[in-house]
Amino acid sequence: MPDGETGLDRLPGSPRYDVVLVDLNLPDLGELGGIDFVRKAKEATPSLPCIVMTAFGSIPSAIEATRAGAFHYVTKPFKLDDVKVIVERAVQFGRLQEENDELKAQLKAKYRFENIVGNSEPMCDVYRIIERVARTESTVLILGESGTGKELVAKAIHYNSPRRHRPLVAVNCGAIPESLLESELFGHLRGSFTGAIANKQGRFSAADGGTIFLDEIGEMSPNLQVKLLRVLEEHAFEPVGGVKPVKVDVRVVAATNVNMEEAVRTRAIREDLYYRLNVIRIDLPALRERRDDIPLLLQHFVERFHRSPGPVPTLEQFFTPEALETLLTYQWPGNVRELQNLIERLTILKSDGRIQRSDLPERVVNGNPVTRDGWAPATEIPPEGISLKDEVNAFEDRLNKRALEMAHGNKNRAAELLRMNRTTLIEKMKRKRLGPLNRRGEGDTGFAEPG
Ligand SMILES: Nc1ncnc2c1ncn2[C@@H]1O[C@H](COP(=O)(O)OP(=O)(O)OP(=O)(O)O)[C@@H](O)[C@H]1O
Ligand SMILES: [Mg+2]
Repeated sequence: MPDGETGLDRLPGSPRYDVVLVDLNLPDLGELGGIDFVRKAKEATPSLPCIVMTAFGSIPSAIEATRAGAFHYVTKPFKLDDVKVIVERAVQFGRLQEENDELKAQLKAKYRFENIVGNSEPMCDVYRIIERVARTESTVLILGESGTGKELVAKAIHYNSPRRHRPLVAVNCGAIPESLLESELFGHLRGSFTGAIANKQGRFSAADGGTIFLDEIGEMSPNLQVKLLRVLEEHAFEPVGGVKPVKVDVRVVAATNVNMEEAVRTRAIREDLYYRLNVIRIDLPALRERRDDIPLLLQHFVERFHRSPGPVPTLEQFFTPEALETLLTYQWPGNVRELQNLIERLTILKSDGRIQRSDLPERVVNGNPVTRDGWAPATEIPPEGISLKDEVNAFEDRLNKRALEMAHGNKNRAAELLRMNRTTLIEKMKRKRLGPLNRRGEGDTGFAEPG
């Protein structure tokens, strides 16, 4: 290459280079331009080995080049054979380095959400948000029912963020009495209240440079909400009993299972705080809204709690078909946590045979089953009453649609499945414009009648 600039221009592009051989003294980049060149080359491609050629007598600058990341230096004049050996070694080293980087990247990708199981559409949406938001400094609000994995998501955000080498501090705002929460979060000065016998550092200070996870934020008192808002806006707070503001650099991730809009409406949550927290919001789906993930989760926990010698059983080896069907159609009000606890218990209780339906807890066996696509018939009557006709109609539609779906639109077969007359089924379809179920379990109203 004619000069340093041209070399630098070509570095990041293709073709890829195995090794760089550069003179310390570059006509266009100056007497020590080679060092700069190495630095920039390593920045662009960390695994690219650079060899620096120096004139006799400039050893100190050669050492500086090594510091900048050069693989080796050779002093002019040199024998071509000597350089050949060094170049070969450099190429080999570069390849190893590249392989190593590749492995690390793979491991990282695997580790990324290693603990979060699920590949349903709604979970993939969640992963996409985590990935995008982790690198930023934005405040994140995680919403979801109990046991849906809010804490796991908070961890994934922190450990995939540039703050991962700094602390992740979790505070459960619902578990700490209101009178203590302020001092817990912001610390206190000695003598600021009875029992404050020494200065105490708060969790915000402990999380400096890292992330604070404020769990059950919906339980925080309005008084503290004001203080939290100030930290979010000014990155500063006063410890209890203190007047001097303390500066902190903390990223806030908050979670709650309360309905935030409702909480704002009833003034349990300040509106300004809500908007400040709600910059990026992650809604975790309930398990019944992502039923495709149930088998995956069952298998995951069967593996995780597997203790006995021998290979991990498959779901078919672990459960009888009836037991498995029951689990797949159960509502899981306690979400993943309920599923996890159940498998842990079953693993302990399990003797030689498979888990039977009768081994499952009563609430699971007798719970409101849902259809595989997540629809549950009403079995409870709410205080305001219910329309029997509507419910029975809905149930009937449901079965009709399901039969059509199973029969791939073949009305004869669908009618057979329901032990009804073909013409009766067609009449019903016409009246209700029924079509096969889509993923959400809603009828496709644009259903065209085949032939
Ligand atoms: N997608 C998932 N994959 C694997 N394990 C999960 C998943 N979601 C939750 N869990 C597990 O279920 C348990 C509950 O999860 P977590 O504590 O994150 O829920 P949460 O939403 O914070 O619940 P709560 O509102 O009750 O605090 C944990 O043990 C967690 O490891
Ligand atoms: Mg939690």
